[in-house]
Amino acid sequence: MRHAAYVFDAYGTLFDVHAAVRRNAEAVGPDGPALSDMWRAKQLEYSWVRSLAGAYLDFWELTKLALDHAFARFPDADPALKPRLLDAYWACDSFPEVPAVLRRLKADGARIAILSNGSPDMLESAIRTAVIADVVDEVFSVDAIRRYKTDPNVYDMVATKWRLFPSAISFQSSNRWDVAGAKKFGCRTVWINRSGLPDEYADLPADAVLPNLEGLPAIA
Ligand code: LAC
Repeated sequence: MRHAAYVFDAYGTLFDVHAAVRRNAEAVGPDGPALSDMWRAKQLEYSWVRSLAGAYLDFWELTKLALDHAFARFPDADPALKPRLLDAYWACDSFPEVPAVLRRLKADGARIAILSNGSPDMLESAIRTAVIADVVDEVFSVDAIRRYKTDPNVYDMVATKWRLFPSAISFQSSNRWDVAGAKKFGCRTVWINRSGLPDEYADLPADAVLPNLEGLPAIA
């Protein structure tokens, strides 16, 4: 085993952020996919802007504000659906391969962590729903430092707490910008390119690219 620790991004990597709208596709109507993309894009934009401005609000607040904006942009969708969509964040669908891959890495002797923008209560609920609490050694939420990814202090939470060099940490994210942040910090990075997107951030490359987490133990 080349890496002492495997650290996973949460939303988009372990948990499917678009499942909420998809599960309610009929009720949301034809703007569903675009509304879901807008919701996610605004949630992330708010995290970057607030982190840079030093105006932290926790990720649950940003998730609600982003959904308000998404509904404002797609007025044909019924805003009465908001509570139903927000509820889904507390019981996120995890991607199907997630539990088995985490268990395999742990059986091979790695420590497993989640490092996420999510607030501690959101993460706890999603982990419980995915039934992976027993395999996750530690959950690091940015809420502890009130700064969002890609602030290097976020990635440093794991290195400092676990007393590891960044290069001993394998960081997995489906978010290419998050991979860039972890690479800059010095982690081994694996981009989980679930949507087959073109590469970005050429000066901060992923060390490996996988279509999902299944192949991760093999490149360990
Ligand atoms: C997270 C965001 C990036 O879980 O999805 O940190």
